[in-house]
Amino acid sequence: MRRIRGGIIAETYGSLQGAERVKRFDHRRIILAVAACGIVAPLSMHAQFPRSITEPTAVERGAKLYANACARCHGDDTRGMTGGAPDLLRSTLVLHERRESLHGKELSPYLKSTPPHKFDYNDKQADDLSQFLSASVNKILRSGYDDHPTHLTEGDVKAGEAYFHGAGGCDKCHSTTGDLAGIGKRYSAAALQQKFLFPNSGLGKKAAITAVVKFPNGTTATGDVVRIDDFTVQLRDHTTGATKSFNRTAGMKVTTTNPYAGHEALLEKITDADIHNLTTYLDTLK
Ligand code: HEC
Ligand code: HEC
Repeated sequence: MRRIRGGIIAETYGSLQGAERVKRFDHRRIILAVAACGIVAPLSMHAQFPRSITEPTAVERGAKLYANACARCHGDDTRGMTGGAPDLLRSTLVLHERRESLHGKELSPYLKSTPPHKFDYNDKQADDLSQFLSASVNKILRSGYDDHPTHLTEGDVKAGEAYFHGAGGCDKCHSTTGDLAGIGKRYSAAALQQKFLFPNSGLGKKAAITAVVKFPNGTTATGDVVRIDDFTVQLRDHTTGATKSFNRTAGMKVTTTNPYAGHEALLEKITDADIHNLTTYLDTLK
């Protein structure tokens, strides 16, 4: 169980320690997938739609709690009720729980003290509910609207293009005539969707989190982050591959840059319709 928990933590795309741990996690996920199913097919599924790991038994218990306590307001399918309680799969609280694998740590106090809620769940119940909601998010991210991949490209091209240049802010970092030119040729629709939702996971090369260390005497060191915590910073030289460690001292300044920050922020705000339209639009770039 601890191993699995480690994996979950490693999938928090925002964590600074991510660089090395995500790599290890990929490896472990492969072992898990193969061990769990004994065949190779599920591996490609995992690669295609990486997601937070949930335990089926916890999800099942959470579903029961949900049906008893929440469904009458948030709907049987967690998608909210018109004029009533909101869609939980678009809730930033729920998405944050899922992304950081919080196991109910934020959900529990919220449900205890935020009207109209007044639920006093123990840690295990809150964890079960959190896992149920995370699994529900995983499901919509995996399948989009339904399980037929052809539907991935039946969104609205114009709306997708507008989102790319507007609310999505994609053109701040990308260009459809530059780095993303012909992207619809390079990837299947499903792979494309996975790429813009989780560019930092799955197989393939990853851009590193980089850091600049500024020492009290004014000199600096830069490199890809191998490891960073309260006491040490370990950097790898981008070209030579050599690693260096520094003890963190008072007056030393460490600035990290996560190239995926833009994509991580996206997960908090993107809606099903945006995902659908964007995939359809990007697929036309051939
Ligand atoms: C009596 C109706 C009712 C019940 C029962 C109820 N909720 Fe809610 N819930 C609401 C309403 C209304 C809001 C919006 C509150 C607000 O905007 O401040 C809400 C908001 C939330 C949010 C925050 C959504 C956001 O905007 O980020 C979460 C998470 C949530 N509920 C989870 C649950 C869970 C889990 C249960 C069952 C244990 C539950 N609720 C039961 C009515 C309900
Ligand atoms: C803050 C900068 C930033 C923003 C905003 C951003 N991205 Fe990215 N995106 C990146 C970086 C960095 C990568 C990784 C590039 C790499 O590995 O070559 C990436 C990777 C991708 C890839 C994979 C490209 C490939 O060739 O594999 C796609 C597709 C993509 N982004 C689409 C989008 C879309 C669509 C949006 C808007 C909804 C968006 N991005 C917003 C920085 C950003």
